[in-house]
Amino acid sequence: MTDDRPVTLRWVTQAAELRQAQELRIRVFCDEQGVPRELEVDDQDAVARHGIAVAPDGRVVGTIRLIVRGTTVKVGRVAVDAAYRGRGIASALLDRAVEYAQDVRAEELRLAAQLSAASLYERAGYRRTSEPFDEPGTDIPHVWMAREVVPRRPRRAARR
Ligand SMILES: CC(C)(COP(=O)(O)OP(=O)(O)OC[C@H]1O[C@@H](n2cnc3c(N)ncnc32)[C@H](O)[C@@H]1OP(=O)(O)O)[C@@H](O)C(=O)NCCC(=O)NCCS
Repeated sequence: MTDDRPVTLRWVTQAAELRQAQELRIRVFCDEQGVPRELEVDDQDAVARHGIAVAPDGRVVGTIRLIVRGTTVKVGRVAVDAAYRGRGIASALLDRAVEYAQDVRAEELRLAAQLSAASLYERAGYRRTSEPFDEPGTDIPHVWMAREVVPRRPRRAARR
């Protein structure tokens, strides 16, 4: 059953939370969308920063994966439990991705969006940077998208 109370967003700090995020991804990408399991969980999970949305009952109902590559943060594995969609959880996780990119002083965020989700990313400031293509191993059309990261203003030095 869906709980209408707000979810909490946080970064994964424990192995059990990462496992729950991976289980959500398997439900969404493999069971719902037919992506092969061997493509879904890869060795990048160990080095990535994972954002999660946690329901009041403690279940992970949203996730996002962020990988730093030079001055780019690669966004991926954005998934929200089917019962929790359409209430801004993915958009809130994308806001956190911008904050993370500012923290690591990245210059841009990049992602391969499922074409059907491109409007979600456009609303979050991303622009298409490629023609549509089929992601290897799936027949889901994707498109590359990117957005600039505006650095946070440096804090003023405290007056003495
Ligand atoms: C795409 C997805 C992450 C959006 O999560 P969300 O928390 O519902 O998103 P938000 O509420 O912040 O934004 C709404 C957008 O999500 C999508 N959405 C909203 N409700 C939805 C629903 N019940 N079912 C499917 N998609 C929905 C729409 O694209 C919507 O954009 P639109 O208003 O232009 O149609 C989520 O639907 C999902 O997990 N889908 C399956 C996995 C997937 O496609 N991931 C994206 C990979 S690039």
